Amino acid sequence: MPSHLISITDLTPEAVEKIFHLTRDVKRVPEAYQTALQGKMFGLIFEKPSTRTWVSFEAGLFSLGSGSIYLGPENMKLGVREEVRDVARVLSRYLAGVILRTFTHRTILEFGKFFQRPIINGLSDLEHPCQALADYFTIYEKFAAVNSPKLAFIGDGNNVLHSLLYVAALVGGTLHYATPRNREPSAAVVKRALAIAKKTGATIKGWHDPVKAVAKADIVYTDVWVSMGEEKQRDKKMLDFKGMQINKKLLKHAQRNALVMHCLPAHRGEEITDDVMESSRSVIFDQAENRLHVQKAVLLHLCHAH
Ligand code: CP
Ligand code: NVA
Repeated sequence: MPSHLISITDLTPEAVEKIFHLTRDVKRVPEAYQTALQGKMFGLIFEKPSTRTWVSFEAGLFSLGSGSIYLGPENMKLGVREEVRDVARVLSRYLAGVILRTFTHRTILEFGKFFQRPIINGLSDLEHPCQALADYFTIYEKFAAVNSPKLAFIGDGNNVLHSLLYVAALVGGTLHYATPRNREPSAAVVKRALAIAKKTGATIKGWHDPVKAVAKADIVYTDVWVSMGEEKQRDKKMLDFKGMQINKKLLKHAQRNALVMHCLPAHRGEEITDDVMESSRSVIFDQAENRLHVQKAVLLHLCHAH
């Protein structure tokens, strides 16, 4: 069985620690890894647009000595032009691994049944594992610890929050979140995260009131209110998320020097104000940079190339 990163739950606490160690090293001495994946070709199959995931994976693969082929929404048409299982079996014979960005998580799971090489989830409706690993690595860099800082997530209970819940659980961290009613994270994900938390000592709590979630937080994190593919729900979501904006007023409830995170892309004036994004508290672009380094470590880890 090849190793995959389809969900954060594919990792153990030890694997997360190992990936963070490797990330530190890859970031510090990238030249030591420039032939680590030489001669391997990876595919990026994306059903949705991307800036960070696409470019950081292509740049990262190039810097590890490998090649990449971008297969965007117009190229592959997974499950439309032909069945997912047929594409997966064919690509198994050409590629050393794939990065998949799909509308439904089921597509990645189906692909995984037939693809005999590593698969990395580059975002589905259910999870965004590379993002959450880069976020916690950023927390590690800023606080020299992953378990003591208190992270507050204010926003939608979907992919990004789900993966953050799992990483928080695995590293024994504290994650408080607030979502609107009916936009809570999946009950199955919360249950699983709490089960992991029991073993690692992590603290996970959810509210509908952002003030409660943000109270005394060291980091305040948000994500867009309208995710890719939800554009038709825009008007309703704007109403549902009223009061959930990360602005100066809400940040008054956090620690005095609390940092601000966002996975990007941001819709300034909706989930976050322009002044907060541009403030010295924002570590948003460090997070984006760390996507590159963490994903290189993930690739090395999954390909057993370090
Ligand atoms: N954060 C993130 O995954 O960005 P992209 O959608 O631009 O890849
Ligand atoms: N929740 C967002 C994350 C983008 C990186 C989306 O799914 O569009």
